[in-house]
Amino acid sequence: MVALRLPAQHRWEVEDSIEELAQLAESAGARVSQMVIQEREGLDSRLLIGKGKAQELKKVCQDGIDLVVFDDDLTGAQQRNLEELLGVKVLDRPGLILDIFAQRARTKEGKLQVELAQLNYFLPRLVGAWSRLSRLGGGIGTRGPGETKLEVDRRRIRRRIAKVQGDLEKVRRHRALLRRPRRRSFLPTIALVGYTNAGKSTLLNAMTRADVPVEDRLFATLDPTIRLLRLPGGKKVLLSDTVGFIRKLPHQLIAAFKATLEEVVEADLLLHVIDTSSPRMEAQVHEVDRVLEELGIPDKPLLRAYNKIDLLGGLEATARMSLGRQGVAVSALTGEGIEGLRQKVQEALDATPLFSGQTPRGRHGRVLPSLPEREVDLEVMG
Ligand code: GTP
Repeated sequence: MVALRLPAQHRWEVEDSIEELAQLAESAGARVSQMVIQEREGLDSRLLIGKGKAQELKKVCQDGIDLVVFDDDLTGAQQRNLEELLGVKVLDRPGLILDIFAQRARTKEGKLQVELAQLNYFLPRLVGAWSRLSRLGGGIGTRGPGETKLEVDRRRIRRRIAKVQGDLEKVRRHRALLRRPRRRSFLPTIALVGYTNAGKSTLLNAMTRADVPVEDRLFATLDPTIRLLRLPGGKKVLLSDTVGFIRKLPHQLIAAFKATLEEVVEADLLLHVIDTSSPRMEAQVHEVDRVLEELGIPDKPLLRAYNKIDLLGGLEATARMSLGRQGVAVSALTGEGIEGLRQKVQEALDATPLFSGQTPRGRHGRVLPSLPEREVDLEVMG
């Protein structure tokens, strides 16, 4: 694991980030043997890190290392130069995250979404591959064909992107067809959002007693799950689980997972699940807020669930809770606080004038744009 620390960055910030990167790599199945942080005035355009450090790294790599992961984004050329120098495979954080997503995708739609993100990630990196080849050949005899080959490869990737996009569209249409015979509902929707591993799936299970796979791995959830939730007052709402957020989430992924993230964009209330036991809790909360902003989500009602309080002592829990503005302390695992959370959800929805009468329609009978038509399988979710 390699990270760069520039003068504007705090050392703890970089340490935090590289530790998380190591967790990501482990989650992808790697065994982390070393973490290296280089302090530099600026980025090196050829290797990102300095030449001396790169040479040191080369020696380390000769000790049975077969992958070096950089916490910072690498250009295609930097990645190739590093691979050439170190003699091992080199990845950057977005590349690693994409790899994890590729391993985890279960449904056809999820797989297509990840492939789309990977193709979009790869496209600008082709340039690096060809500039290396032309340099190796001294520029003579390689530039022309290389450039032509590059164009061919680019066209091929663009064609594949168009094909994947078309397939995605088909899968979505097919899913809509399958749902047709099911009962329709016009219920308000709550989207669970949160940093990866915060406990969204566990909370969804605890609140709805549904059976969603829960795994102690980053990004276990890639495909949206929607369940029916009965609130204490008897009202029904839909609760949807979404993909976990993470810092430096590759923008190609955000674009590809638009359908999954639409649950968030269209939700009437967001339930932000926070891992209160994490030493990185504040940074994670901040990152989720940032991604929500990036998704262009306007000021939506938001409730915070401070999860995993069973892992904290009472005093620490209170101190952590006071960091939040509006929240409920819960343990999705033990069930502590879940009733209180359901109550809070009810109150939050009641505070939204649209839901006070549990009707998806406006005063004048118009279907409100914030309440899209939803088709749900009530038998499964009852
Ligand atoms: P992603 O799919 O990565 O976004 O994760 P997620 O937010 O859906 O988390 P998930 O529900 O899969 O939980 C991650 C891990 O945290 C699992 O090992 C859970 O058992 C554990 N966990 C969730 N909630 C609690 C809790 O309240 N207390 C404790 N101790 N562990 C919890």
